[in-house]
Amino acid sequence: MAQFFLFDHPLIQHKISMLRDKNTSTKEFRELVHEISMLMAYEVTRDMPLTDKEIETPVAKTTAKVLAGKKVALVPILRAGLGMVDGMLSIIPNAKVGHIGLYRDPNTLKPVEYYCKLPEDIVDREVIVLDPMLATGGSSSAAIQFLKDRGIKNIKFVCLICAPEGIARLQEDHPDVPVFCAAKDERLNDHAYIIPGLGDAGDRLFGTN
Ligand code: PRP
Ligand code: URA
Repeated sequence: MAQFFLFDHPLIQHKISMLRDKNTSTKEFRELVHEISMLMAYEVTRDMPLTDKEIETPVAKTTAKVLAGKKVALVPILRAGLGMVDGMLSIIPNAKVGHIGLYRDPNTLKPVEYYCKLPEDIVDREVIVLDPMLATGGSSSAAIQFLKDRGIKNIKFVCLICAPEGIARLQEDHPDVPVFCAAKDERLNDHAYIIPGLGDAGDRLFGTN
């Protein structure tokens, strides 16, 4: 069974509630997604390996811990995943960024792929897939499968709001992929929107509808 991490930090919960509010403007929505992603990056990178390094402080020599330099790639699922990239990069500035373009067909609810560009050395990197919404799980499962088909083994998935149906789908399809989420909601409605959710993440982030 895949690991599932739900963030209960008060700052994150507060900001998620502001995101949900239909009166939150596009500008505020963008800023909140940025801030929440930054806070989540701190926990998502908790297992980054460390190594010892000899350094000299102004008063003594010592052996200190530094990051072992494991390489990371962020892969946002377009469009809405883009909103999470800068917040993550502010904590992991050396990460490379790939993009996977998928949209959910409103009739079939199946993901349709329209773009893919990944860093050349992505198979050597730890890959963090970003998408604010995990609803049916169709888009994220397809994006993860797409990466696995290219030989990528080390994958994490980070979202802001998930539905129980989406978690179940990812755990079924990709039990090896840990899922990090800021809020777990009640259910999906008849159009597979998350209830209570926040509406259409892409539209709220980019001011479209
Ligand atoms: C949204 C969201 C996810 C997907 C989640 O994208 O950003 O990618 O829906 O739904 P699922 O779990 O049922 O697949 P959307 O298809 O609206 O595209 P957009 O980001 O371009 O608006
Ligand atoms: N995609 C969204 O943007 N919101 C939902 O609630 C479900 C899918």
